[in-house]
Amino acid sequence: MKGDSKHRGFATRAIHAGQQPEPVTGAVNVPIFQTSTYVQPELGAEVDFDYARVKNPTRTALEENVASLESGLSGHAFASGMASLTALFTTVRSDEHIIVSHNVYGGTYRLLEQVLDRYRLRASWVDTTDLDAVATAMEDTTRWVLIESPTNPMMDITDISAVCDVAHARGAKVAVDNTFLSPFYQRPIELGADLVMHSATKYLGGHSDCLGGVLVTNDPADAEWFAFVQKSAGAILAPFEAYLILRGIKTLPVRMERHESNARIVVDALADHPKVERLYYPGQHDHPGHEVQKRQASGFGAMVSFDVGSFDAAKAFLDNIEVVTLAESLGGVESLACHPATMTHAAIPQEELDRLGITGGLVRISVGLEDGSDLVEDVCNALGAI
Ligand SMILES: Cc1ncc(COP(=O)(O)O)c(C=O)c1O
Repeated sequence: MKGDSKHRGFATRAIHAGQQPEPVTGAVNVPIFQTSTYVQPELGAEVDFDYARVKNPTRTALEENVASLESGLSGHAFASGMASLTALFTTVRSDEHIIVSHNVYGGTYRLLEQVLDRYRLRASWVDTTDLDAVATAMEDTTRWVLIESPTNPMMDITDISAVCDVAHARGAKVAVDNTFLSPFYQRPIELGADLVMHSATKYLGGHSDCLGGVLVTNDPADAEWFAFVQKSAGAILAPFEAYLILRGIKTLPVRMERHESNARIVVDALADHPKVERLYYPGQHDHPGHEVQKRQASGFGAMVSFDVGSFDAAKAFLDNIEVVTLAESLGGVESLACHPATMTHAAIPQEELDRLGITGGLVRISVGLEDGSDLVEDVCNALGAI
């Protein structure tokens, strides 16, 4: 595409932002620049690219692309979602404090409680759907409020702009893990957040074939810091992975629409099923976060959790699915089911799992792009095995 893509629509930017035809050959797709270093024409010459840990054109294209989709200032791609969260936490000094949604991906909990606690980074686990709880947890040294919305796996919805008001009034910034909805459905920076994080492994990549993480910031000082951390700590995204994620993003809008319409079909089957004791999906009118979600996002996504009452019932379900695959992860073209208590959230202590409602009977499905009728048949067959 010729010219600047800034004023173009989301789908156009998904395909074109950050990507100009390659100048030597005119290749329409950004090549995989599989190089660790770049020639310097003479000693002391100013060059755009000198070493691939600092900058790689394939990675730069992805970073510009995701920054555009998230309406942010700059993007920074890392080797995984966890590497991008680690980079985010390097903005916090020891003895400073952050607030984190109490129900987040288990790996985020493990990173803060079992790794970064060694560096005296203090995290308070707060129900961020409760604004009073957020305000009460704020300290003078609180640097960030990190929100997941919807949360993994309980699908709690936090009012992002309301939390931004509370945090900003106390001089703290707001970061949102936007992995579950992708920028197609939710753009936290437009709601007032300072930073968005993605496990690009999920919907951005979309095909369960690589790991990656991205930070998008709207703060020039943070942008400079993250570029410095990429260079200095080095957990950057490799060019092949950057290429795969860039390729995945080109179809993000069509995939997200189909993910969501399939999720609706599966949710309707689950909602009426006698073996399903509780259903967690923000698209349901009786979900406590439904109205907030309608206000701050343009869709409900395709992550669905439900409780079948016991570990044995969950095991019977998971052992009998055939189209849906039992596996960690989410956001790929194929439907995946997992048992959060023993898989994605195994790092969380039992009493915390009990408090959050992550029971032995809880199952989470990432609804994929297969035929909706096959998914319903498969889910109902497996429920019948309970
Ligand atoms: C919401 C969320 N955030 C972060 C991560 C971590 O991302 P990655 O697996 O790419 O390191 C995950 C992984 O499952 C996730 O679901």
